[in-house]
Amino acid sequence: MRNTLQIRKKLLEQLGGLPEPRVQNEEWLYLLGEETRNSISIEGYFVSEKELEDVLLKGRTETRDEKVAFNYFRTALFLYGLAYENYKTGEFTFNEALIRQTNKGVTDGHGDYRKGDIVITGAKIKPPPGFYVKDWIKLYIDWTLENLENLDIEKLVAKQHVLFESIHPFEDGNGRTGRILTNYLLISKGFTPVIIKGDDKSRKEYIKALEEAEEPLREILQSKPGKKRLNITMEEMNSKRLETLIKEALIRSMDRVLISKLEKELELKVIPSYEVAKKLGYSPDSIRELIRRGYFIAVKRGKSWYTHHSLDVRSVNSLENIRYKINP
Ligand SMILES: Nc1ncnc2c1ncn2[C@@H]1O[C@H](COP(=O)(O)OP(=O)(O)O)[C@@H](O)[C@H]1O
Ligand SMILES: [Mg+2]
Repeated sequence: MRNTLQIRKKLLEQLGGLPEPRVQNEEWLYLLGEETRNSISIEGYFVSEKELEDVLLKGRTETRDEKVAFNYFRTALFLYGLAYENYKTGEFTFNEALIRQTNKGVTDGHGDYRKGDIVITGAKIKPPPGFYVKDWIKLYIDWTLENLENLDIEKLVAKQHVLFESIHPFEDGNGRTGRILTNYLLISKGFTPVIIKGDDKSRKEYIKALEEAEEPLREILQSKPGKKRLNITMEEMNSKRLETLIKEALIRSMDRVLISKLEKELELKVIPSYEVAKKLGYSPDSIRELIRRGYFIAVKRGKSWYTHHSLDVRSVNSLENIRYKINP
């Protein structure tokens, strides 16, 4: 089976690549809005779709949660603009300044690292003492830069996220900062951002994935920061659960952008998945399962999934294939 993600990446490049992150772009506005609402809800802040829309329109906030949402949205938008320029230029800006500015943006604070110890509620891991945070963050940056080209994208972003959250460099905003940095990495490489779901069940699954992966870091984060040991530990790390979660989310966001582009460029018309199933002789259940596994490029609109018989990635690997299947 070919890699369902790499096929999507190739198709996106054939369609002119990732669109520029702007609120004027419908898909970007949707992704940024949903990311904001989900990411802050992981931390216990809630805004409805309508509320967020109002806040963005007026540029003014009333409640604490609205302010948190506004700060998240504008920080993410700025960082993703920068990431897009990385993608366009082939550069990769990734340093302490960028990380601290992200935290400053989401917390509306000073962006300084914590000076004292910190406890992650409910976690087995103990983040390093305050006086080692800067050194660990430098090692986190080095590790990410050194592995950017040689690991599969979902493995790279999963592992760096586990390391960042385990260092927990800031007093507050570590979750929000780390998730924006994760998407910054993805966009810099020409992928769409992921939305890590914030409902109770998904949140638990996400924390469980972090817990499982961070296991080998527990000991070394309590000792003097050292590059060699970190590299070995990062290799030992089992981040499979988080990788799967990220890959599934990535497929969903890639598909949203892909379908929007295909609708414009090939005049493709997606239809409800049960109609595609009927046409292809599948049961409605089995097509849903195929979508879930990433075998069909598909998008959820309202309560239903939409796709097209030409969007089966098991038999399609270029834009030409899709064009031909639409119009034989
Ligand atoms: N067991 C764990 N190991 C590592 N990181 C964790 C664990 N549990 C939670 N986290 C991370 O900590 C984040 C919460 O940290 P916090 O500084 O309060 O961020 P925020 O202010 O954005 O909520 C979670 O979103 C998650 O990413
Ligand atoms: Mg917090």
